[in-house]
Amino acid sequence: MRDLIVDPLEDRGGVLHIGGVSALELADRYGTPLYIIDENRIRANYRRLEDAFRRRYANTRVHYAVKANTNLAVLSILRQEGAGADCSCPAEIDFARRAGFPSAEILYTGAYPSHEEIAFACDAGVMINLDSEARLGEVAARNPKPLMSFRVNPGPGKGKHGLVFAGPDAKFGLPADRVIEAFLRARALGFERFGIHMMTGSCVLDPAYFPEVTARLLEIAGAVAARVGIGFEFVDIGGGFGVPYEPGEQPLPVDRVAADVVAAFVDGCDRLSLGHPRLVLEPGRYLVADAGVLLTRVQGVKRGDKTFVGVDAGMNTLLRPALYGAYHPVLAADRLREPPADPVTVVGPVCENTDILARDRALPPVQEGDVLAVLNAGAYGFAMSSQYNNRPRAAEVLVLGGTHEIVREREGVADLVHRQRVPGRLLR
Ligand code: LLP
Repeated sequence: MRDLIVDPLEDRGGVLHIGGVSALELADRYGTPLYIIDENRIRANYRRLEDAFRRRYANTRVHYAVKANTNLAVLSILRQEGAGADCSCPAEIDFARRAGFPSAEILYTGAYPSHEEIAFACDAGVMINLDSEARLGEVAARNPKPLMSFRVNPGPGKGKHGLVFAGPDAKFGLPADRVIEAFLRARALGFERFGIHMMTGSCVLDPAYFPEVTARLLEIAGAVAARVGIGFEFVDIGGGFGVPYEPGEQPLPVDRVAADVVAAFVDGCDRLSLGHPRLVLEPGRYLVADAGVLLTRVQGVKRGDKTFVGVDAGMNTLLRPALYGAYHPVLAADRLREPPADPVTVVGPVCENTDILARDRALPPVQEGDVLAVLNAGAYGFAMSSQYNNRPRAAEVLVLGGTHEIVREREGVADLVHRQRVPGRLLR
């Protein structure tokens, strides 16, 4: 358990601190369930990744995958760091622009986008990454024409929990044998600026995978450049950089990944006469996962064949365990130095038996009122939360070197009800 207490976490007298602030104080002050985000950790993650690549290939850009955590404070932190943005829908583009990302630094990648979504992205002046040829004509009708990219499916993907976005079963991207045709058509339609993109899977901890799939994308880019007679302003290798969640998992060695990816990239660019295009990375999880902690309070402990610890965060608050069987470490926030007792199952208040946050965990004996901390909750945590069971969504607090401030207020009943309309005849 002690090896879980790494930056931004600290054990001060047995009490968990996040970004220098006591988890108990945060839970008392703001209520639970509560998401905590550590600003310095996001910055450190960004710098580690960007630096590893930039040192080896100066023309690297990191686009933050907004879907991982859409809080405007998080977006603003990453904009200050110099990131671009990867957006998957109009509202993500809107958020990126609110947070100050220039349109030219935003890449829009929709999956089966509607006419309206494409129109929104074109009006916003962002770079357009198409998943098929379906919307090419309407993008081409724009004046001036945006930078145009295709997302390609370069073959087998890789990812944890079935988060595999390439290969024969993936709904994403142009099949490799359709890519030349698509770019030929784009050129014929008068596009002049091009990029090429892939996103093949999420939460990958195997360092060898990244150079391998980069090499495959470059082969495709090289074939397109030769056959279609165009150049690429960028080659986007997507995100997918994993973080350890489970005991025994090791952090991704980003230095080695960067060295091997850049070697494969430069070799491919030279061999295939692609020049020195921008190398774009699109991480979500890597930047924000371990910067986030979910605090939740124990509401009751039920002992039987199994011991259930019921807490006030459920699958509505953090869906990953219920949806993917994902593992998130759990700590008893003020009992860090107490020895563990028999394993317990941590469950939420939702009326579903899949409403489980953690199975069979050896925690110190906890009781009603204790605060538990669910770690690595910064990516796809709040972002995938819902109002299921009519439960308002949690609040979010940003911590920075001992200070804390609210960056998203807790929802209330008014948020649940305010879009509903009851026909008059039903009011009688
Ligand atoms: N770029 C595109 C086009 C994407 O679709 C995604 C994630 C990313 C970048 C960022 O991927 P990352 O670096 O975070 O792996 N809900 C799942 C993760 C789904 C990822 C979807 N796309 C989870 O909770 O693990």
